Parts: sequence; C-alpha cells; structure tokens
Amino acid sequence: MAFAIAARCPKARVIAWEASPFPFAFCWLRQRLAGRPNLVLRFGDFHQADLRHASLTVTYLWTGAMTRLATKFDAELPTGAEVISHTFAWRGREPEETRVADDLYRTKVYRYRATA
Ligand SMILES: C[S@@+](CC[C@H](N)C(=O)[O-])C[C@H]1O[C@@H](n2cnc3c(N)ncnc32)[C@H](O)[C@@H]1O
Repeated sequence: MAFAIAARCPKARVIAWEASPFPFAFCWLRQRLAGRPNLVLRFGDFHQADLRHASLTVTYLWTGAMTRLATKFDAELPTGAEVISHTFAWRGREPEETRVADDLYRTKVYRYRATA
C-alpha cells in the first residue's frame, strides 16, 4: 500500500511502518530495486511514530489495533489531519466519507478528519 500511495502522491513524504520481518524485508527489497524517492520505510512498532506533523495517516489493520491507535490519534494528530482506514473503522468517530470498493468483498474505506 505504501508504494501505491508514494506513487500517487509524489510530492508527499510517505513514511511506512511495518513490525513484521517478512513483509518489511519484501518492502525493503522492493525499495532497493525500484524505490520511490518520497518513501521512507521504518521497521518497528508504529506506536513509536510521531504523528504530530502528519497530514494523512493511512491504516490497514484490524479492530483491536484501531482501538489502540484511536488514543494515539486523539493525542497527536493535528486538527484537520485526515485518517483513511481500509476495512476497519475508527470507533466512536463519524467518517466524513465512506466508500465501498468494487471488489469481491465490497471492502469499505473510511475517511476521517481529526478534530481538536
Ligand atoms: C492487514 S496487514 C496490511 C498489509 C500491508 N500494509 C499492505 O499494504 O497490504 C497489517 C500489517 O500491519 C502490521 N502491523 C501490525 N501491528 C503493527 C505495529 N504495531 N507496528 C507496525 N506494523 C504493524 C502487520 O505486521 C501486518 O503486516
């Protein structure tokens, strides 16, 4: 997903976090072979990320992880920053927009805006 975002938003600095060695190694290799200059890969827990200057956070996780992240979003995201979540909603928040992908699972994608 990080590569697609970096390609789609060439002027953005995209920072992608992955804590699992195999997917990280795959991304690292891909970045070495056909990298995106605006993409930075970080190996580790995204709870270490500093979101205070993030304008957009994109997630593809699961319900429990979104619940934990909600606390971090509330504490760190600047007002007006956007959160786009693949499949799993940010519970307790009303999305500004919900789209349904034209795929087998009719996957939902939610877009939120952080408020103070
Ligand atoms: C549903 S998969 C998404 C796969 C991938 N992001 C993609 O573009 O297809 C969730 C991924 O989040 C990673 N992950 C889960 N918790 C994490 C954490 N605390 N920090 C960093 N990565 C994490 C998992 O290792 C897994 O690869």
